[in-house]
Amino acid sequence: MSRPFYITTPIYYVNARPHLGHAYTTIVADVVRRFHAARGEDTFFLTGTDEHGDKVVQAAEKEGLDPREYVDKISGLFRDLWPRLDISPDHFVRTTDPEHVKCVEHILSAIHDAGEIYFAEYEGLYCFGCERFYQERELVDGKCPDHGTAPQVICESNYFFRMSKYQDWLKDYIQANPDFIQPERYRNEVLSFLKEPLEDLCISRPKKRLTWGITLPFDPDYVTYVWFDALVNYVSALGYPGGDRFGRYWPGVNHIVAKDILKPHGIYWPCILKAAGIEPYRQLNVHGYWNVSETKMSKSLGNVVEPLSLAEKYGVDAFRYFLLREMSFGLDSSFSEEALVARINADLANDLGNLFSRVLTMVQKYLEGVTPAADPRLAGEPGWSLAGPAAEAAAAYNQGMEEFAFHKALMGVWEFIGKMNKYVVSSAPWTLAKKEEDRPRMAVVLYNLLEGLRMTAAWIWPVMPGTALAMFERLGLPPGDAARGAGTWGSLSPGTKVSDPGALFPRVEYKAGEEAAAPKALDPPVKEEIGMEDFARVDLRVGTVLAAEKVKKAKKLLALTVDLGEAAPRTVVAGIALSYTPEDMVGRQVVVVANLKPAKLMGVMSQGMALAAVSGGGLCLAGFDGPVAPGTPLK
Ligand code: MSP
Repeated sequence: MSRPFYITTPIYYVNARPHLGHAYTTIVADVVRRFHAARGEDTFFLTGTDEHGDKVVQAAEKEGLDPREYVDKISGLFRDLWPRLDISPDHFVRTTDPEHVKCVEHILSAIHDAGEIYFAEYEGLYCFGCERFYQERELVDGKCPDHGTAPQVICESNYFFRMSKYQDWLKDYIQANPDFIQPERYRNEVLSFLKEPLEDLCISRPKKRLTWGITLPFDPDYVTYVWFDALVNYVSALGYPGGDRFGRYWPGVNHIVAKDILKPHGIYWPCILKAAGIEPYRQLNVHGYWNVSETKMSKSLGNVVEPLSLAEKYGVDAFRYFLLREMSFGLDSSFSEEALVARINADLANDLGNLFSRVLTMVQKYLEGVTPAADPRLAGEPGWSLAGPAAEAAAAYNQGMEEFAFHKALMGVWEFIGKMNKYVVSSAPWTLAKKEEDRPRMAVVLYNLLEGLRMTAAWIWPVMPGTALAMFERLGLPPGDAARGAGTWGSLSPGTKVSDPGALFPRVEYKAGEEAAAPKALDPPVKEEIGMEDFARVDLRVGTVLAAEKVKKAKKLLALTVDLGEAAPRTVVAGIALSYTPEDMVGRQVVVVANLKPAKLMGVMSQGMALAAVSGGGLCLAGFDGPVAPGTPLK
């Protein structure tokens, strides 16, 4: 039995709204967790928000809100965004949670009781932007390297953690555990920090300067300083010091952060853990920055990329794929919508989408849609088997995913897709189909391609869960099996009925100047107010679905036959096919906009619209508590 696997993201500050950088780290965590879950491991995935400090109070004041109201609002934006990007954390921790506060108090008391925290006067250079003191040597031309502003001299009495005491231990530990911090460049960076004498860590702020924080259990006039509060989330969320979760998941903990917070995670956190008598974390995984036009995204530069609008414009899966494929974990990457579109068209629509559609169409045309059996004597012949390339892809994929080299894992899979595309051309099933004696050979070819696509779908499930499920469904396999790993070559059973391939990824066009706009749904702007007379113009009615079927060649559309209490039922086309099957719909009651101008959607005339909310990466139809007569108006 493998060890339970625990993955964390940083907890994000609530003084800014979620952007592409936050989305990237959290998608990576989701992908890694899915990869481990698909191997049958017991997994736990944590994210959350960091809600104390000066900056939060300032941001709240700017919006005219009380800090509590403000943190609830912004934390909610993060929490609500994740499901829309198909990210499913097991727990969302907030540093204002009472359980977290209790845990911080516990750890502070334990370290204080052990004599590892002392009180002293300190004069230093303080950057209000970073909320920390700087050493002279860390400044660039006398200015904070992150904010470009000169820090102020501040003199105050504070509590300090004897971090310097742990310097030698930490150095030895990192040297003895080469994969403690990875990629290697960041391990080396931490080791080079440790060549300089480590200072003790200031862990408090006097309440006269900052009240929005956790009060020190041993001095009511002080609150903890940001890191002693924030880092503890990784154990507080597991219920430390009690709680089963801590015992179960802590030994398998993997943190993911970007390089901006390498020092707190690579140095402060192991020392705090050591002082608190907790085992060091298993691994710290550090990635680079997403830049826009060569500069790090920042609110002040106005170059922040909105993740949700991109996901809504191009599809969640395509967006996730792009982020994982484009960035080499550890290095910086440049974001551009043009590059995203190029990858969608080349890798997704062309390489994978076309192959899938071609293979399923041939199975329908030549084999009446039934997965054939492959004659074992022919299947193993050199040049006709795909088992070797599949094994190579599996090895590259597994190694890449284990090492956080996601781009390499995906390259391994796409190399295999490339080989399948060549195999289609070289084996020419359309020619084999012509002669009766060649048909067993054709069956081998199509079986191999279906099996290769099945494995591909399972490999991409952690990155593109919706696509993997859709591929399994169309291959005639239980969609849930996409989440159970690729298994071994040859697991696909003959006799399965495939269905219409649809278009997995329609080609998209990039138009400069039409970049994705800020999302409407994240923080909906208040729309213009209307009077009752305006609302009354919309004729909302209860409809009962009598029949439903997929609209040909449209992945998202269902054509519903709806009884609206009129002489004849109407056809209403709804974009819900990724969330509801036709069987789900029959007998269901929906809210219909009955006086919408009829419109043709993929060749089908729609006489109304069914209302649904975008939720959890899919759609959720509006409905009623109990049965209502069809045609009843909504008021
Ligand atoms: N609250 C602290 C973390 C405490 S963890 C115990 C914090 N918050 S943050 O909101 O600033 O988030 C920083 C993290 O967001 C980075 O480490 C990274 O995960 C993500 N990113 C923010 N901007 C980013 C880029 N431009 N590129 C890639 N990731 C980025 O620090």
